[in-house]
Amino acid sequence: MDEGLPPCWNDVVDVLASGVRRVLLFGPPGLGKTYAALRLATNGPAERLTCTEDLTSAEITGSWMPAGQGRWEWREGPGIRAWRGVNGRGSRLVVDEIDRASGDALSTLLLICDSPESARWRHPDSGEWVRPGEEFTVVVTTNSGTLEEIPVALRDRFPVCVRIDRPHPGAVSTLSDDLRGPALAGALGGDERFVSLRSFYAFDALRAQLGAQRAASLVFGSRADAFLDALAIGSLR
Ligand SMILES: Nc1ncnc2c1ncn2[C@@H]1O[C@H](COP(=O)(O)OP(=O)(O)OP(=O)(O)O)[C@@H](O)[C@H]1O
Ligand SMILES: [Mg+2]
Repeated sequence: MDEGLPPCWNDVVDVLASGVRRVLLFGPPGLGKTYAALRLATNGPAERLTCTEDLTSAEITGSWMPAGQGRWEWREGPGIRAWRGVNGRGSRLVVDEIDRASGDALSTLLLICDSPESARWRHPDSGEWVRPGEEFTVVVTTNSGTLEEIPVALRDRFPVCVRIDRPHPGAVSTLSDDLRGPALAGALGGDERFVSLRSFYAFDALRAQLGAQRAASLVFGSRADAFLDALAIGSLR
């Protein structure tokens, strides 16, 4: 347990450190879910997939690509690359916006995230049966406030789901001093909508060039005055 971390981030660290191989992170945008998923308890560079309505199975397992002189070769996708990892041991796969996956891609993600005993995929060129290496881990993320938008079969593959409700302190530490407290608190006074770290970063950078008022209006629009008031009186919760 790290005393400096908010409880949600402590949970993520503890769960990944204890060897749980399937974790789902959900919560408002811009709190550091993807950043953490790509880096925490990894054994090397992570593979990454971002789901959209148009994501296809080929973008997960691979596709045939022209290799010159009329030849085609099978190029493996991030799902299979993460199964293999370095030397077949497996590595981290990060699947962002999992709630958007549908149809073909969803079925393929179910296969990729299946339990190690059941998961296997046949290489279309060599005919090799590929299985996930023992160090293969998946962290999926979603902005959904609840887990109801996640298909049941997928949800079942992720017994541990952590609701992220605070920005990661590492992210906040790169902001100017006066913005750190507000960024950690996350929400404008009286407003339940979270202020994304991305907004704080943009405000911080713009403020240095254009002044606080203009920066706030560019980043927060109609909420600019509320943001500046909250900053001034330290009423950001
Ligand atoms: N621990 C950290 N240290 C430094 N920067 C960070 C850290 N965590 C997040 N960031 C930065 O904060 C921003 C938002 O982080 P990230 O993309 O991980 O958020 P997210 O929760 O995945 O958001 P979304 O739900 O919209 O995908 C990014 O610019 C990222 O680089
Ligand atoms: Mg993300």
